[in-house]
Amino acid sequence: VLALVLSLVCFPPGCRGLSQLAELPDTHQLLRQTCRDFADRELNPIAAKLDKEHVYPAKQIQELGAMGVMAIEVPEELGGAGMDYLAYSLAMEEISRGCASTGVVVSVNNSLYIGPVLKFGSEEQKREWITPFTTGEKVGCFALSEPGNGSDAGAASTTARQDGDEWVLNGTKAWITNSWDASATVVFATTDKSLKHKGISAFLVPMPHPGLSLGKKEDKLGIKASSTANIILEDCRVPLGNMLGPRGAGFKIAMQTLDSGRIGIAAQALGIAQASLDCAADYAHKRTAFGSPIGKLQAIQFKLADMAVAVESARLLTWKASLLRDAKKPFTKEAAMAKLAASEAATYCSHQAIQVLGGMGYVADMPAERHYRDARITEIYEGTSEIQRLVIAGQLLKEYQS
Ligand SMILES: Cc1cc2nc3c(=O)[nH]c(=O)nc-3n(C[C@H](O)[C@H](O)[C@H](O)COP(=O)(O)OP(=O)(O)OC[C@H]3O[C@@H](n4cnc5c(N)ncnc54)[C@H](O)[C@@H]3O)c2cc1C
Ligand SMILES: *[C@@H]1O[C@H](CO)[C@@H](O)[C@H](O)[C@H]1NC(C)=O
Ligand SMILES: *[C@@H]1O[C@H](CO)[C@@H](O)[C@H](O)[C@H]1NC(C)=O
Ligand SMILES: *[C@@H]1O[C@H](CO)[C@@H](O)[C@H](O)[C@H]1NC(C)=O
Repeated sequence: VLALVLSLVCFPPGCRGLSQLAELPDTHQLLRQTCRDFADRELNPIAAKLDKEHVYPAKQIQELGAMGVMAIEVPEELGGAGMDYLAYSLAMEEISRGCASTGVVVSVNNSLYIGPVLKFGSEEQKREWITPFTTGEKVGCFALSEPGNGSDAGAASTTARQDGDEWVLNGTKAWITNSWDASATVVFATTDKSLKHKGISAFLVPMPHPGLSLGKKEDKLGIKASSTANIILEDCRVPLGNMLGPRGAGFKIAMQTLDSGRIGIAAQALGIAQASLDCAADYAHKRTAFGSPIGKLQAIQFKLADMAVAVESARLLTWKASLLRDAKKPFTKEAAMAKLAASEAATYCSHQAIQVLGGMGYVADMPAERHYRDARITEIYEGTSEIQRLVIAGQLLKEYQS
């Protein structure tokens, strides 16, 4: 099946041609296995505790940094792993299979923080905002949403006013993942509200910083080991050189960042869906009812079959979107499809896993209930499922027009 997908898209330099279509390139296979082992050894055993105690996995994030997983696409000369998005997707799935909270921390550093700096930053900005972070202790965050506007990000009302050789930022950013743990953020603010989304620009702000403060940590349904809070900007001053990309390009930067970011969230969702299936299939072998394993019951088999189909379809869409991006082809529609399918697969599979486990699905002794809570966010952040459908339909109708 992978052969089919790969033949539909152009090959990134890492893949070596049609004879090897059934296999991932060795480099990718190795990374996938390394992340899988790491998740089994370091994340799986502590995921329930992190969830329960809302603890940021600082040590694990540092280790992932040392493995190159926190800066996968960053060229080696800037201190990253110098790999592609397929590699990132594979890593994200495996990490999230072990712990979805750790997954989101990884995804925000890679796609939401590094992504825009790498793509839109000047050489000087890349050196300043990417390279010094390579100690493996720092993570970045991405501040677009506001209390009054999330899906409608173009309506953002945080302002940036020029004062001499500085920008003065004012406003409140909402729901910012990693905010309590971050050392820098990309903030979106408008220099001219009358221009609507065309007035928005992106700014690099160190953290902590005078004029920048954090709201309380949100008490969430899932991904509890990652921090989510408001970032409050009150006369927060940064040098003029901290604008990322041209003036007025902020909305475009945000949308392009999210196009890529969605592939990472698809992979996170995929990890949750796979973990749910793993848990259910394993239990189906072990649990007996009416004298035999429940896995012998067709009702249970059908659930497992439907879960496996959902996981595998979502995985192929996620890989396809990654490969298109790596081949520098348009991937907006495919990224939205991958995110939509994978997040719905995560919700579906985690729901079914609880059913397969019966009472044990409902208690925290088993991971199924955590997967169910963690899955839900993947249908909301980086564009809700409704927004993904709008993106897909918009692209689709364009194709039929020409
Ligand atoms: C845990 C968590 C972490 C997050 N992390 C970040 C982060 O790091 N950085 C960041 O900037 N943001 C972050 N967000 C914000 C997130 O991206 C937004 O919550 C999301 O985009 C939805 O925006 P909203 O909450 O304002 O909902 P709204 O936009 O108010 O949407 C409410 C409902 O209306 C629907 N809707 C809205 N517009 C349309 C439309 N045009 N057509 C059809 N339906 C529509 C939505 O789909 C949804 O069902 C995070 C959110 C959470 C919960
Ligand atoms: C997050 O990304 C930055 C930018 O490349 C990197 O330097 C940093 O080490 C990453 N964080 C961790 C914890 O590895
Ligand atoms: C966006 O949200 C902010 C509050 O966070 C609000 O003040 C502003 O009016 C909203 N913008 C629009 C255009 O609705
Ligand atoms: C920022 O907001 C503060 C109030 O919080 C206000 O006093 C100040 O004038 C505002 N600055 C700008 C540049 O809009």
